[in-house]
Amino acid sequence: LLKQQVLKGTFLTLLLAGVSGMHAQTATAFDHSDPHPGKEYAKFNNVGDLVRPTDYREWIFVGAQVTPNDMNDGKPAFPEFHNVYIDPASWAHYKKNGVFRSGTIIVKELASVGTKGSASGNGYFQGEFLGIAATVKDKKRFADKPNNWAYFGFDDKSSAAAQRDDACAACHKANAAEDMVFTQHYPVLRAAKAAGKAK
Ligand code: HEC
Repeated sequence: LLKQQVLKGTFLTLLLAGVSGMHAQTATAFDHSDPHPGKEYAKFNNVGDLVRPTDYREWIFVGAQVTPNDMNDGKPAFPEFHNVYIDPASWAHYKKNGVFRSGTIIVKELASVGTKGSASGNGYFQGEFLGIAATVKDKKRFADKPNNWAYFGFDDKSSAAAQRDDACAACHKANAAEDMVFTQHYPVLRAAKAAGKAK
């Protein structure tokens, strides 16, 4: 009997722990521990070009802007969906400190508009992948670049050299909300930063 009571007690405690654990999770919404502290996800080859990242679809997905051809005379600056990912170590750092660390890499993967209607309604639905662009912040490597960010376009290439500042950086510098990143379009990043501040 005693054993049974002890077991019951344990079960209740576990149940309560589970419930309060759930509460804690909804309140914070973000886990601020860093699974890969300081890990560098941007890789450079021996001539200093950025090696095309391959595993970015397993990073943190922060947004999917769409500049459809049919709203841009068929010629948006970047076709059409822009799926944006940040590397996990820089995400953890951003949540905690609210700034993009030296070593941050953000990838924008481009995808076409496929169909404009589905079971959910009319709209823009992703079609096929078209290529990637990326930006890397590195205080040493890009000491002479605006805010230490360098920009890269890949198309099908396996590595890419940094673009000229007027090709990419200038527009980012003039229009992006935070440290040349368009956080005004990324509620995921804004929420992470707010949670970090609240802590
Ligand atoms: C005329 C302005 C403009 C130019 C030029 C430009 N971008 Fe952007 N870029 C944006 C905007 C606006 C966003 C966010 C919204 C979107 O994706 O449409 C963005 C987002 C990005 C992102 C996601 C991270 C972020 O900062 O929000 C990357 C990576 C990126 N651009 C790379 C590039 C590269 C590489 C080039 C040069 C080949 C470039 N951009 C040129 C306006 C520009």
